[in-house]
Amino acid sequence: MIIVEDLHKHFGGFQAVSGASMEIAKGSITGLIGPNGAGKSTLFNVIAGVHKPTSGRVVMDGEDITGLPPHDLFHKGLLRTFQIAHEFSSMSVRENLMMVPAGQSGETLWNAWFHRKRIRDEERALAKKADDVLDFLTISHLADERAGNLSGGQKKLLELGRTMMVDAKIVFLDEVGAGVNRTLLNTIGDAIVRLNKERGYTFCVIEHDMDFIGRLCDPVIVMAEGKVLAEGSAAHIMENEAVIEAYLGRGLKNKVKAEAEAEEARHEAHGAQPGLGDEAGKGGAA
Ligand SMILES: Nc1ncnc2c1ncn2[C@@H]1O[C@H](COP(=O)(O)OP(=O)(O)O)[C@@H](O)[C@H]1O
Ligand SMILES: [Mg+2]
Repeated sequence: MIIVEDLHKHFGGFQAVSGASMEIAKGSITGLIGPNGAGKSTLFNVIAGVHKPTSGRVVMDGEDITGLPPHDLFHKGLLRTFQIAHEFSSMSVRENLMMVPAGQSGETLWNAWFHRKRIRDEERALAKKADDVLDFLTISHLADERAGNLSGGQKKLLELGRTMMVDAKIVFLDEVGAGVNRTLLNTIGDAIVRLNKERGYTFCVIEHDMDFIGRLCDPVIVMAEGKVLAEGSAAHIMENEAVIEAYLGRGLKNKVKAEAEAEEARHEAHGAQPGLGDEAGKGGAA
């Protein structure tokens, strides 16, 4: 659905993205992980038209969309949400959703003066759609709440709701889990899975929470220093040493190792056969 070819994005002399290539398959929930500063958000920004790439191409369904502005991509059904949730805090949750189609398509309210009846009908339809979205996300009870009063997780749900007000095809979610409690993160995860299965959304998700990534995403792409380091199933990625080291840091790698060694020691203590170790076990489980 999306093909990124040898993408570079330099800020002055600094290479935030330096030769990233990847493919996001239609119908997938693709995870994007990597240490802070790996270039994940920058990559999203380039794909979503916020930044023009220094070089490289982005192709969507066979069409070159490199450097198209966000509102053009929006009309093609490509949406991104932000690392920091941004909402109109003094407006209600329902009103926030109703803003989306007009606000983002660049339509002015001029027509309102000439077509009041039509506008009223459209507004009613929009309110109905917003309520359907809130129902889908299981937050109908928040419809009249001021958006500014929502918790971090509820704001993320509202963001997801925004993508449902238009006919999104592919949605880029940057750090959905940041500052979100476990219960709401599960609600968000469920909504993503349902949007994927029931409405055919394709997702690309940046997230640090490996439980979340492991539960939702296949494949998982790992970025480090502006490049793609590895790609595979979440289980495969977790097993890959280079990835563990680059992403999770030496501390965790050593912890994983220490756990494996402790496990081995337990096996030996119970007289388990050496040799039926790591490799055979992993292969069989896959
Ligand atoms: N607008 C910008 N101007 C200059 N440097 C930037 C800009 N945006 C990001 N960077 C730098 O690019 C690198 C990658 O950032 P980012 O894409 O946000 O990484 P990630 O999302 O993986 O944490 C970082 O070192 C960051 O400081
Ligand atoms: Mg980021």
